[in-house]
Amino acid sequence: MLLLLFILYAIALSVGLARAGHRSRVVPSSGAPRNRPRRVLIVGATGGTGRQLVAQALERGYTVTAFVRDPSKLQLNHPQLTVVQGDVLNYASVESAMRGQEAIVCALGHKRYFYPTRILSEGTQNILRAMEAHGVSRLVCETSLGIGDSAGRLGLFYTFFIIPVILPFYFWDKTRQERIISESNVEWVIVRPGMLTNAEKRGRFRHGRHVGSFFWTVRISRADVADFMLNQLETNMYLRAAPGVAWR
Ligand SMILES: NC(=O)c1ccc[n+]([C@@H]2O[C@H](COP(=O)([O-])OP(=O)(O)OC[C@H]3O[C@@H](n4cnc5c(N)ncnc54)[C@H](OP(=O)(O)O)[C@@H]3O)[C@@H](O)[C@H]2O)c1
Repeated sequence: MLLLLFILYAIALSVGLARAGHRSRVVPSSGAPRNRPRRVLIVGATGGTGRQLVAQALERGYTVTAFVRDPSKLQLNHPQLTVVQGDVLNYASVESAMRGQEAIVCALGHKRYFYPTRILSEGTQNILRAMEAHGVSRLVCETSLGIGDSAGRLGLFYTFFIIPVILPFYFWDKTRQERIISESNVEWVIVRPGMLTNAEKRGRFRHGRHVGSFFWTVRISRADVADFMLNQLETNMYLRAAPGVAWR
């Protein structure tokens, strides 16, 4: 009986995540290139994906501002890198970092799983508000497979264990984060990876609406996710869409 109730709860949660997250109506274009921004603000720069974003953005020649809570966590010196201390929940610090930027790449995450939080959604709201205040047009933001029209696509283990037991509050906040982004006026791309690893960049992965599996858990390295996210600064292929990304 308890097992049955748990399964019903997990299914109801999945349906809720599907309905509350972003549901794409946009068909990806053929990938028209756009003018590449030069100055990029990276939020979550001390995290796993964030560090990859900083390193790869510098390799690509961008002028990078890393937005971090604790600058001592990012031991990196580069002439094109500025480290700015702030907290996404503090609008003034986000607004100040936004000045002079041309695009934002966000890999915000946290580990406060076991109680309701609004860190992702409120932080993203502050980012969008500051973008509009400074006329910054493009936001590329990492969320996850399992939200909106990708609900269930992290496989059975996530759908029936990890999300309902460990991550229900976290994923619920991600649905709010996606909604806030998709209802905004900026040029946005939501990137939904499968389970993240710290493996090397492969450079070959699937991306698009039907990535992921309802049965098994698909993976991808943070290095490949960062590569894909930075590509979204240079193309309109997934403008106002929420592609999944995972290794083949
Ligand atoms: N793990 C997976 O398998 C998986 C799968 C799919 C999607 N995702 C999602 O992908 C995203 C990136 O994950 P990750 O594991 O690469 O990142 P992560 O290591 O969890 O890093 C998260 C980053 O967000 C920053 N952050 C947290 N709260 C902040 C605040 N209030 N103000 C400013 N910065 C703040 C952290 O700063 P501090 O260093 O100061 O804490 C850190 O730099 C997350 O949203 C995650 O949920 C993860």
